[in-house]
Amino acid sequence: MELIFATHNQHKTEEVREIAASAFQVKNLKDIGCFDEIPETADTLQGNALQKARYVHEHYHVDCFADDTGLEVEALDGRPGVYSARFAGEHCSYQDNVDKLLKEMEGKNNRKACFKTVVALILNDKEYLFEGRVDGVIIENQRGSSGFGYDPVFLPEGFEQTFAEMGEEEKNSISHRGRAMRKLMFFLKDKKNDDFKLF
Ligand code: IMP
Repeated sequence: MELIFATHNQHKTEEVREIAASAFQVKNLKDIGCFDEIPETADTLQGNALQKARYVHEHYHVDCFADDTGLEVEALDGRPGVYSARFAGEHCSYQDNVDKLLKEMEGKNNRKACFKTVVALILNDKEYLFEGRVDGVIIENQRGSSGFGYDPVFLPEGFEQTFAEMGEEEKNSISHRGRAMRKLMFFLKDKKNDDFKLF
């Protein structure tokens, strides 16, 4: 089975390919010749994930899924949340966002944060949502060079390495995206079983 992942983000594509392994083949937007800037204007993760998946489904007529992720920091009243990509401004880099986060967290004792991912799947014209979450803390100085985004400052609960210090496999086994994607995979597996029953 093949599914289109409605993203231009190569890091995310690699993570999801690793998670999906042999369950299904993951193609991203480049693979289907889509270079459009996909609108992401909703004010919830769910809204954005659906908006991206619907765009690709409507314009390219393929079964597809999209994800949207936010980092919610307790001491910042849940910010940057759905605005995690643009925390430091339009067209900012991952490093700009990390710098802004560390600055805003200066002097804060409560360092608790969580990543949340919503995955929206459109399959046979029906829409489905899957959520994943991981809790942790924002450390004071960035560590590690793997991964992307806020990985160097996010220390997942119960671990001594930041996401950026972990290998991809370990990050995927506990991450927000890994958890949401595994729910999607179980769902697809069940669906296949249903289909078998029908025939
Ligand atoms: P997106 O809207 O799903 O692309 O995610 C918004 C922003 O959250 C990204 O630009 C990254 O800065 C951050 N982000 C998303 N996923 C991760 C992750 O797995 N680790 C660290 N940061 C992430």
